[in-house]
Parts: sequence; structure tokens; C-alpha cells
Amino acid sequence: MSILVTGGAGFIGSNFVLDWLARSDETVINLDLLTYAGNLQNLESLEGDNRHVFVRGDIGDQTLVAKLLEEHKPRAVLNFAAESHVDRSILGPGEFIQTNIVGTFNLLESVRAYWSNLGANEKDAFRFLHVSTDEVYGTLEPNDPAFTEDHRYAPNSPYSASKAASDHLVRSYLHTYGLPVLTTNCSNNYGPYHFPEKLIPLVIHNALAGKPLPIYGDGQQVRDWLYVTDHCSAIRRVLESGECGETYNVGGWNEKANLEVVHTLCAILDELKPKADGASYSEQITYVKDRPGHDRRYAIDARKLERELGWTPSETFESGIRKTVEWYLANQDWVANVTSGHYREWVEAQYS
Ligand code: NAD
Ligand code: TYD
Repeated sequence: MSILVTGGAGFIGSNFVLDWLARSDETVINLDLLTYAGNLQNLESLEGDNRHVFVRGDIGDQTLVAKLLEEHKPRAVLNFAAESHVDRSILGPGEFIQTNIVGTFNLLESVRAYWSNLGANEKDAFRFLHVSTDEVYGTLEPNDPAFTEDHRYAPNSPYSASKAASDHLVRSYLHTYGLPVLTTNCSNNYGPYHFPEKLIPLVIHNALAGKPLPIYGDGQQVRDWLYVTDHCSAIRRVLESGECGETYNVGGWNEKANLEVVHTLCAILDELKPKADGASYSEQITYVKDRPGHDRRYAIDARKLERELGWTPSETFESGIRKTVEWYLANQDWVANVTSGHYREWVEAQYS
């Protein structure tokens, strides 16, 4: 038995692959294009482990995907592959349309062809699990209830619009062709192997480098944070027991304003890695121009997943954020590798 994971060299995908193989001997075929966000160093601990088969390639390459499906006959395909950074989608939306929409469409076509030819039992048991985001629901006012699965889609960035389009395509393959699909819509993740272009790892990296900690606008935008291994456990649970065609919101009930997150990170760094001059890292906080179309608040209502599949997160924000800072302090080599080269060009383009 095997599963095919796409985007398994990225932040969440690599955490998922590591977590999966720590709990199961079922082979993982890992298809990843290794864009700037993909990093095989995340999977270093699996070197020589024949339960992990890495293939560099594009989810949109139907010939390659058909070959992989025929060769390995996975019982499930989990689609993590995507362009995932809102700011990059604002500076250059083209790649987001290509991978998130066209790529997902091509992947669905390859999977549909494979699935149609399976025997009756395999066909019934097969699952296509699409990993998506709460950002498809748009933005909330301060007192609005959190997003449920019935919330209307109202994406506001090219990233969230492209993910929304992919969610709709996935849904249509169940209704039109009967493909057994599942979709998860998760809130903001954080934890090990998070690329330092996103808020939490960027702030840890800049703080340690003595650089400004950039806060967009007033810093009062709210995100609902979930430790990445909790997202992984939710995906495993949905894959095991989710009902075909259903969508499941995943979140940890951890709404925080950005400024509060940054102050928390600074306080933990002050404790674990105090600056030589005794100053607090929070003195590096710098207000910068706001992101265009910046969503004010996201909040996930994850009660369906708890009620129907018995899933709850294991980490609180306090435990998860401390683990995260500890991981970055212990893995400065990883940070140094991913922040060389093209990373510097990105920082220059985004913050200059
Ligand atoms: P990431 O940007 O860290 O990783 C994406 C991975 O996909 C990279 O390894 C990249 O090389 C690969 N990839 C990109 N284009 C590809 C293509 N055409 N073919 C094959 N591989 C390709 O992203 P992430 O944060 O790990 O997010 C994974 C998924 O989870 C995405 O679908 C994202 O929308 C979703 N999600 C992310 C968050 C979050 O907070 N990061 C929250 C909810 C949902
Ligand atoms: P980010 O990590 O990019 O995730 P998303 O946009 O998908 O929620 O950003 C999280 C929040 O932090 C978001 O409100 C934008 C804000 N932010 C900053 O204030 N400064 C930064 O340098 C970055 C990257 C993000």
C-alpha cells in the first residue's frame, strides 16, 4: 500500500511526510517540483529509507503523474503542492494560476483516469484529499462568528482566489465523475521548516540577524494559528474517516493579532537568546506599508471535525510557539541555507 503526496518538500508537506513515516510503514511517493519553497533538506532524516520515494516533477505533468500512479498504485493522493505566499501572489500572480488552478486541474485529470480503471473495491477505497486554506472565505469583521464550512467563498488575494478555484474544481470531480474527494480548509500554520518569508519564521530570522521586524499597517490583523503537526494529524484523520465529498475546517481556536504574535516571539527570544546589550528584540519592530487588500481577520470554526471525526489539536499557541522558536534556534544551519541566494532577492523586492 502507498499514498502519493504532492508538495511534500514544502513546509506542511514535509512535516506531513515525516509524521506519516514516524507512525506507519506505508510508502509515500513524494512528487514535488522543488520551487524556491521546496527543500529536500527537510527530508534529510529519510535518506536511505525505502518507504520514501521522492520524484521531482510538476503536478501539471499528466504524463509523469500517470506513470507514477500506474507504477505505484497508491490508495490515496494528497495534494499539498501549491504556490502559497500571499505577498508573492500580489507581486506575480501568474504562477499561482498555473500551479494552483491549472496544475490541480491536470492532477485531477490524471487521477480520474487512474481511478476509473481501478477494480470496484480499490475504487471505493480510493481518496483524493485536497489541502486548502481558510483564506478562501475572505475576511471577517471583529465580532463575526468564525468561518464554518458553509461560509460563502469570498477570496481577496490572487493566492486565495486560486485556492478557491482549485477547491471548486475538486468538488466538481465528485459531483460530475464520482471521484471520492475530501477537502480540508486550514488556518495559518507555524512550526519547523517554515520558510522565512512568512510572518513567524521571518520575525525569528530578522530578530536574530538584528534586522527590522516588519509589521504591515497597524499590526492588528488577526490570524488563527495552528501548530503544523496538528494540521498533519487532522489530515490523517480526515483521510481515514472523512466522508467523501465533505469539506472539513481545521483550526486551533488561537486567534491572535499580528503585533501580539511578534511581541510573544520577542519575549521568548529575550529569554532563550538574550541580546548582548540587554535590549529587547521588540525594539526592532518597524511599521511598514500595509499589504494591498490585506484581510483583517481569519477565524476557523473547527467543530465539525471535532464532532464528526473526534479531532482536536494537541498544542496550545503557547506550547507551539515556544517549540517553534526552540527549533529555529537549534536549526540555524537550515535557516542559513534557505536564506541564501534567491531569498535575498525576494526580501529586496518585497521590503525595499
Ligand atoms: P509551501 O510553499 O511551503 O510548499 C509548497 C510545496 O509545493 C513546495 O515544496 C513546492 O516546491 C511545491 N510545488 C509548488 N508548485 C508545484 C508544482 N507545480 N508541482 C509540484 N510541486 C509544486 O506551502 P505550505 O505552506 O507547505 O502549504 C502546503 C499546502 O497547504 C498549500 O496547498 C497551501 O495552500 C495549504 N495551506 C497552507 C497554510 C499555511 O499556513 N502555510 C494554511 C492552510 C493551507
Ligand atoms: P503570512 O505569514 O504571510 O500569512 P497569511 O498572509 O497567509 O496570513 O502573514 C501573516 C500575517 O502577518 C498577515 O496578516 C500579514 C502579516 N505580515 C506582516 O505584518 N509582516 C510581514 O513581513 C509578513 C510576511 C506578514
